[in-house]
Amino acid sequence: MIIIGCICQGNGIGKDGKIPWKNKSDMAFFRKKTDGCTVLVGKNTILPPLKNRNIVVLESRDTIDKLEYRDALLIGGSKVWIDAFIKGYVNEIYLTVIDEYYECDTFFPVQYLHNFNLEYIEKLDEKTRIFYYKKI
Ligand SMILES: NC(=O)c1ccc[n+]([C@@H]2O[C@H](COP(=O)([O-])OP(=O)(O)OC[C@H]3O[C@@H](n4cnc5c(N)ncnc54)[C@H](OP(=O)(O)O)[C@@H]3O)[C@@H](O)[C@H]2O)c1
Repeated sequence: MIIIGCICQGNGIGKDGKIPWKNKSDMAFFRKKTDGCTVLVGKNTILPPLKNRNIVVLESRDTIDKLEYRDALLIGGSKVWIDAFIKGYVNEIYLTVIDEYYECDTFFPVQYLHNFNLEYIEKLDEKTRIFYYKKI
């Protein structure tokens, strides 16, 4: 699976079920990367309207284990990312980092990044970069 996520300073990802920022650069990257793909999302995450994607909302905890989802994009939130990390399903991570602080109640599980190698960093704009990791 490939994780696609976005964090702010302090590794925050969300508040009250939503993402507490609007970042045009990251949204453009997200839309391009997920276009035409199967995306898996946890049931606590509220998504904006997205066309041309096969969106699978993970309601039951064993859905993520299905073989046909092994190449899918896992777009969060924190709980489903943690489960995928623990089960060894994650091969790649596109982690957008916004160089600003937002108040959050949910966080990216950075403790699992030690199993990954940082391959490159791409600057999207003055305050937004993508960190791309591959499993070691
Ligand atoms: N910044 C970003 O890139 C980004 C991306 C996505 C989400 N978010 C934010 O993250 C927050 C939501 O994250 P979250 O961690 O609370 O929830 P989540 O990961 O979206 O959903 C977790 C729920 O999904 C169910 N689930 C189904 N399969 C699961 C599995 N294999 N492992 C774990 N849970 C599974 C569980 O329901 P049961 O407990 O009933 O079993 C669990 O409570 C929101 O604020 C959202 O906006 C941010």
